[in-house]
Amino acid sequence: MAYENILVFREGAVGRVQLNRPQALNALNFRLMTELVEAFREMERDPGIGCLLLHGNEKAFAAGADIKEMAELGAIDMYTRDYIELWDEVARIKKPIVAAVSGYCLGGGLELAMICDIIVASETAKFGQPEINIGVLPGAGGTQRLTRAVGKSLAMEMVLTGRMLTAQEALAAGLVSRVVPVEVYLSEAQKLAGEIASKSPVALRLAKEAVLQAFEGSLSSGLAYERRLFAMAFASEDQKEGMRAFTEKRKPEWKGR
Ligand code: HXC
Repeated sequence: MAYENILVFREGAVGRVQLNRPQALNALNFRLMTELVEAFREMERDPGIGCLLLHGNEKAFAAGADIKEMAELGAIDMYTRDYIELWDEVARIKKPIVAAVSGYCLGGGLELAMICDIIVASETAKFGQPEINIGVLPGAGGTQRLTRAVGKSLAMEMVLTGRMLTAQEALAAGLVSRVVPVEVYLSEAQKLAGEIASKSPVALRLAKEAVLQAFEGSLSSGLAYERRLFAMAFASEDQKEGMRAFTEKRKPEWKGR
């Protein structure tokens, strides 16, 4: 597929995708989301890639789903169009995804960022679910993932008023893992993604799956799930190599199995 709305880069073991509709603040239309899913799936299949990185530009990560594309759709169009499923497809990616966010991160854009595993924010980032202002509500997981990320009261305030959080507020609320100056937000995220990509691919896959399980179901079922995945890590050569390398005071050489 020739991409029109995203740019794709390969930097060592990091696969990087830039959302690229700057004239529309990277509004996520059907075509862009389809391209993003396609690019991520290709990176998922590439054994040389250990971590994915997603970002927009300094002004916007993404200002939401494309309102102009949705405006005239009816309920059945929305239900049958498999548009929102494209967010679910991103959530199915098993490799870790870092989001580097600067500027607007709104609506479906925030829902996309929250599907990523770690959000690195620039000091200028603004996070919001402003759907209430256009007569709807978050539709790609926002009411669920935001509530789990920041708690009920703040999620309600954001969803019911559309108020945007500053980067510092997002940090205090636990929505992002760190806030850095805008000049370095991308390079910091690249460093982080590079560090993640240097780890054992098996352990990364197990660890991502285990942490995501915290969002599903109860604590006791999550703990049981973690226990099984932890035991499974001991079936990998990377576990043997990692622990031997530690004992022998050398760097591990990951095999990915
Ligand atoms: C389509 C959008 C857009 C969007 C911005 N643009 N956001 N187009 N969909 N979500 C376009 C504008 O129409 C304009 O193009 C250009 O981008 C620049 O935007 P401006 O509004 O002129 O910029 P500014 O005055 O700086 O205001 C920035 C802004 C505002 C506050 C972010 O653009 C805004 O409120 N955007 C909408 C945010 C929003 O409601 N997002 C949620 C969408 S619903 P033109 O060509 O007109 O000049 C959603 C539901 C998801 O995400 C459900 C699951 C899929």
